[in-house]
Amino acid sequence: MNFEESKVRAAKAALSEVHDGFVVGLGTGSTVKHFARMLGDEVRRGLRVKVVPTSYHSVEMAVDNALDLLPLEAVEAIDVVVDGADEVDRDLNMIKGRGAALAREKVVASMARRRVYIVGEDKLVEKLCSTKPIPIEVLPFAYRYVMKKVEEMGGSPKLRRAGELKDGPIVTDNGNFIVDAFFKPLDNPRSLEAEIKALPGVVEVGLFCGVADVVYVGRSSGVVPLAKHK
Ligand code: A5P
Repeated sequence: MNFEESKVRAAKAALSEVHDGFVVGLGTGSTVKHFARMLGDEVRRGLRVKVVPTSYHSVEMAVDNALDLLPLEAVEAIDVVVDGADEVDRDLNMIKGRGAALAREKVVASMARRRVYIVGEDKLVEKLCSTKPIPIEVLPFAYRYVMKKVEEMGGSPKLRRAGELKDGPIVTDNGNFIVDAFFKPLDNPRSLEAEIKALPGVVEVGLFCGVADVVYVGRSSGVVPLAKHK
């Protein structure tokens, strides 16, 4: 399967969630990049929307596609957020934060009336943590403490490093570090989300449980919308 094509299909399906006059939360990542391009095309055809970014990456995508930006600080409500995800389980719980934008993504999602996620089918898993670690944004001075606590919870934490692009750890848009926590496939992601979030020094955890209203899954044969159980 062509992964890029599946992302394009999911992004296109999310366009049907955006209506004239909407304030749209713009997610982060390569799938949202397709959505931002398509939204830009619609705006050129007359659709009126404003977008609230979830990261500097999403600011860039908005600027590149001539989308009107609203700072998060200036909005009281968001009509819909469209964002990507790293893993999605059958209850629509998600891991997010590969792009290190989880903190702002969670705030924007919690302010949105409707929460729409777009993924290729390679992101679907039986249980979260099957293929990806949980990104945790931490205050820099607390990273060793948080890593120790994650180990006590049964996880294997790793400080995310910048690799060739910078010596030392990566620094998020908010000036923090990311600890990637590997766990065995999770039976109860909701309780782990609460447990990690409660650690002093943790800014946000990349488990998004009960957040998604719908996940559009791009497949080679088309798009499948997975909706939240009512
Ligand atoms: C950003 O921090 C992440 O939460 C992204 O939304 C997520 O990694 C999806 O990215 P892709 O669409 O590039 O897979």
